[in-house]
Amino acid sequence: MQLYMNKTEKATYFIKNLIFWNKQFNKRNMPWKGEKDPYKIWLSEIILQQTRVEQGLAYFNKFVKKYPNVNLLALATDNDIFKMWEGLGYYSRCKNLIATARFIAFENAGIFPKKYSEILNLRGVGPYTAAAIASFAYNLPYAVVDGNVLRVLARFFGKNIPIDTLAGKKYFNELAQNLLDKEEPGIYNQAIMDFGATICKPQLPICSACILNKTCVSFKKNLVKDLPVKEKNLVKKHRFFYYIIAELNGKIYVKKRAEKDIWQNLWEFILIEQQEKVPMEDFITSTAFSTILGKNATIKNISPFYKQQLTHQTIEGCFVLVKLKSGISNKDYTLISKSEMQELAFPRFITNYFERNGLF
Ligand code: ADE
Repeated sequence: MQLYMNKTEKATYFIKNLIFWNKQFNKRNMPWKGEKDPYKIWLSEIILQQTRVEQGLAYFNKFVKKYPNVNLLALATDNDIFKMWEGLGYYSRCKNLIATARFIAFENAGIFPKKYSEILNLRGVGPYTAAAIASFAYNLPYAVVDGNVLRVLARFFGKNIPIDTLAGKKYFNELAQNLLDKEEPGIYNQAIMDFGATICKPQLPICSACILNKTCVSFKKNLVKDLPVKEKNLVKKHRFFYYIIAELNGKIYVKKRAEKDIWQNLWEFILIEQQEKVPMEDFITSTAFSTILGKNATIKNISPFYKQQLTHQTIEGCFVLVKLKSGISNKDYTLISKSEMQELAFPRFITNYFERNGLF
């Protein structure tokens, strides 16, 4: 395979491999897959708008059994339909379902609209749902762009434009439309959604077994967990880190940061994070301080406050050096020697402290 691909080659590679994956490996079975009846496709898409497939399945089957076509749904009472919808939540979807069924049955001679623009005009149908119905039922060339699609595209092409901004929406809509297989838009649309739902998953994507991993930009750059980007998650935070360097018999308490947060997998000292900057006198007499250390801590040194600007966060914090007479009970922290500490990776905020103060 070529090491470098231009934009068109990359797009062709993406489409070919996605379609191959769909044919050979996509085992996702859903009753609306391959369905050509626009009524059933519409019904499934409305149910799935704010509902997971696993939960929506039973409702879809129940609806199709009781109301096998749009006319029968349109003739049912509001009450009967709401009863069937019970448990799905977001009842405005159900109201729109009823209104659209009656519009099609009584004002459109029971015929489901066939043009994208007419489908988009139906109540409760937005661009995503319209593209799904148009492509699945009529093979019209409209790309679906849902959360699955945005995630797959942002990761494969390594794009960090926030998906919830105007610029991001425009960029990804155009990209999705350019990539769409115009011969088989329905199959392609279902394939990319299934790929996002089963391989390129939000958490724990299966990159090692992914057919696209050789050219996936975010996989190569180790950015999979950082994409897609949402502007609403980019709000700059100001955080206050109070580190306690607690020494017992020449050893220090440390912990590996495991949370989905900054500095994942790096090591740190005992951390007490505060919502705001508290004066040092208040901190060392606080319950949090005495709870973690017990009553046997002697304070040896208190550092000034340091600041570090990360991309989306400001970290402000300090280091309190204490000597203990006995161990702490918190099991998150382990005691290690200073020479062992030199083998571990610490965040910049802490190594800066080492540089200023030596390894105490
Ligand atoms: N979510 C919404 N529409 C879907 C579809 N057609 N297949 C799988 N998940 C979906």
